[in-house]
Amino acid sequence: MQLSTDPSQPAAPGATKAPRHVAIIMDGNGRWAKKRGLPRLAGHREGVGRIQKVLETLDARGVQHVTLFAFSTENWNRPPGEVQGIMDLLSLALKQQTCQLHEKNVRVIHLGSVDQLSPALRQGVAEAQKLTCDNTGVTLNVAFNYGGRDEILEAVRRIIRDQIPPEAVDQRLFSSYLYSAHSPDPDLIIRTGGELRISNFLLWQSAYSEYYHTPTLWPDLEAAELEQALETFASRQRRFGNVTSEA
Ligand code: FPP
Repeated sequence: MQLSTDPSQPAAPGATKAPRHVAIIMDGNGRWAKKRGLPRLAGHREGVGRIQKVLETLDARGVQHVTLFAFSTENWNRPPGEVQGIMDLLSLALKQQTCQLHEKNVRVIHLGSVDQLSPALRQGVAEAQKLTCDNTGVTLNVAFNYGGRDEILEAVRRIIRDQIPPEAVDQRLFSSYLYSAHSPDPDLIIRTGGELRISNFLLWQSAYSEYYHTPTLWPDLEAAELEQALETFASRQRRFGNVTSEA
């Protein structure tokens, strides 16, 4: 897809209406399950179910890029049963939802490394990307086995491998070596579940992102609160290090 603006650059100062790119840290699935006396995986299952509604709301509001933090490089440290359960959920979602997403003109892209993924999951990811690669609607980035620091290190390795001269390495070039090269930097990052941290998510890309955090657990996130997050974003004045015209 041809982007109308340089993806490595933030939106123009004052441009705060609808975010072009919303990234979400979907936290709180485990607590959602615990509150109901259910196994943690039931929370992840419910969390997957929430995704479609969220995508519909964001699409209706004109958001063009959505990034979901589904599994971090640190999440491998969770109990093996939970890790396997999340892998299975992703496989199932790819099988069940790729065609639907394709019909809705959504382009699906994986952010992260496929190295530790099972051959079947790798194949599922590759097929979803291939099927949807020419779609021109919403770009859905699924950050899976993703870590912001690893992404930066991988970009550095590739730049060195490509023998790019040091003087040619600027912000734009660096952004083009990240997993997210095809999307502009996120305008808005939403974190559910009440924690106030970035957890190794889009470290380079979030330099000028606005944050919205809420104690609401991910499976409980309703369209109304998402609208609230978008309203909050629209009311922010983004200065990108500059001063306001009134100052
Ligand atoms: C955070 O909640 C959630 C995760 C680490 C996993 C989220 C994964 C999914 C929703 C499934 C991925 C699949 C697709 C289709 C994208 P938590 O377990 O840290 O919750 P807690 O903080 O309450 O323990």
